[in-house]
Order: sequence, then structure tokens, then C-alpha cells
Amino acid sequence: MVNVNPPDMLWLTDTTYRPLFDNCHVSPIGLGTVKMGRNRGVKYPRSFKIPNDRDVANLLALAYDLGINLIDTAPAYGNCESRLGAILSNRHQWVICTKAGEYFDGQKSSFDFSPEGLTNSVEQSLRRLATDYLDVVLLHLPDDDLSTLSSEALTALSKLKERGLIRAIGASTKSTPAGLLAVEDYDVVMIAYHQQDTTQQAVLDAAHASSRGVMIKKGLQSGHSGSPDEYLRFLMATSMSSVIVGTINPSHLAANVATIAQVITANGSSLR
Ligand SMILES: NC(=O)c1ccc[n+]([C@@H]2O[C@H](COP(=O)([O-])OP(=O)(O)OC[C@H]3O[C@@H](n4cnc5c(N)ncnc54)[C@H](OP(=O)(O)O)[C@@H]3O)[C@@H](O)[C@H]2O)c1
Repeated sequence: MVNVNPPDMLWLTDTTYRPLFDNCHVSPIGLGTVKMGRNRGVKYPRSFKIPNDRDVANLLALAYDLGINLIDTAPAYGNCESRLGAILSNRHQWVICTKAGEYFDGQKSSFDFSPEGLTNSVEQSLRRLATDYLDVVLLHLPDDDLSTLSSEALTALSKLKERGLIRAIGASTKSTPAGLLAVEDYDVVMIAYHQQDTTQQAVLDAAHASSRGVMIKKGLQSGHSGSPDEYLRFLMATSMSSVIVGTINPSHLAANVATIAQVITANGSSLR
């Protein structure tokens, strides 16, 4: 891991945060955690070693110092939730997004979107993340996302929200029709969107029109983009709430935040 020289850092303050759902504002860049817990069945350009506990703790501390307040995880990301639960001492300073419906046994994924399955999943996430509430829970949808968006899944998540276990519910979608349906029925949607693939623009537009939060996944084309800062500048001009960038490299994390901070400064907003 490369050390980041603090004097070189540019960071974000809460004046730069964007709305995600009622009474919740998030940094325009969030931390994605796939690579902190899982290196199989992923499509990154290079193989990588899962970082150790100390490196994960340092990365989270750096993200916090840089002004990031949003972290995205999932039961399908290996032991990631448990690691975060053990490390995140200042839980209330974070907006934690996790998912339900997809499970990964180290080799392959399986799916369960039944009301019992979703309820068990959320209860386990609460235990693993060592918290009594989750800020956001997304349905972790498979390729046939539209048919998986059932009314019983919506009802199950809504009940967990009514019980105070979840602040906002949403769906991580793959297709535009599913994204549009999620915008109608849920608080938040997560979509794949980047400079080379804007096919889900209609979802961003619909979410903006109805004041729904949008988290972007794969905003750097999962590492296949040659120019991360160009991709981030492109996303900053959209109505997204936050781009969730999955990195385990502190220098990349600091560089990404610096790019976002520069865009905000150039647009005339102050950083502090
Ligand atoms: N709900 C879902 O179905 C779903 C699916 C996919 C992802 N997600 C969420 O979205 C997050 C992001 O998605 P993603 O990880 O697929 O894609 P991504 O954020 O587009 O790209 C991550 C890749 O970009 C590299 N990277 C980041 N900053 C860089 C920089 N400044 N210079 C060079 N390389 C850089 C990372 O490598 P380094 O580690 O070397 O920086 C990593 O390999 C995930 O972590 C996860 O939280 C959700």
C-alpha cells in the first residue's frame, strides 16, 4: 500500500454533500467495499489480494479524513460486513448501505428474495455490522431484475423500515425498466452508469424528477477506464447523489476525492 502525504490531500466537507433520502446527505463519492472481502467471481482487470485488517482500518480512516461519509457493502462481499462491524467505531458518522437477496459461498452466488430470506438477511447484516440500524438496504438484484422486483419483497423491506431497522430502502438494478420501477416504489436506486455507457440515463432523469437518490456503481467502468479523473468529472455533472468507487488503494482514494473537490471548487462552491 502506498502512503498518502497529508499536505497533498484535498478533502470534502458536509457543504458538498448531496441528498440521498429524507434527512440524509452524502458525500458525492462513497467507498465501495467488494475488494475488501472478495476476490473471486469479480470482473476487475487485475487479480488482487484482499487487504488485511490493518490496511482496511487505515483505508476507512483515510476515507473519513477525506470527508467521505458513505460506505457501500453487501452480504455477497465475502466477510466484508463483519470486518466493517469490527472496525467502524464511529458508526453514527457513517451512512451505511448494504444489500439483501444475493449470497456468495466463495465460488458462486445464490439468490433469495422471499420475505423470510430478506428479513433474515437484514437481521444478520445488523449483527455483522454491529449496529442497531442500517441507513440503506438495497435489493441485490440478479440479471432478471425486473421480474425479481416483487411486491412481496417491497412489503418485506417496508416492514423492516417501519420497525426502525432500516432508514431507507432501495434496489441495485441492472436494466432500465427495473431502474424506473425502483424509482417509483423505493427511496433509493443504485445503477451502473459511466462515460462510456449512459444507457440508464432515463433512470437518472426519473429519479431526479421525483427527488429519489441515485448511487452510481461501476462509475469507473470497474477499473477498465483509462482515465479515472475524466470519468469522475463526467459523473459530477450529473444529478447522481454519489458515485460509489471501489478501491483498496489509498493513493487512488485520495486522488479520486481530490478530483471531486477540484470540480466542486471550479464550479464555485467552497469546500469548507
Ligand atoms: N449492487 C451491485 O450489484 C454492485 C455491483 C458492482 C459494484 N457495486 C458497488 O459499487 C462499487 C464500485 O463498483 P466497482 O468496484 O465494480 O467499480 P469501479 O468503482 O468503477 O472501479 C473500481 C476499480 O477501479 C480502480 N480504481 C479506483 N480508483 C482508481 C484510480 N484513481 N486510478 C486507477 N484505478 C482506480 C480500483 O482499483 P484499486 O483498488 O487499485 O484502486 C478498482 O479495481 C463496489 O465496490 C460495490 O460497493 C455494486
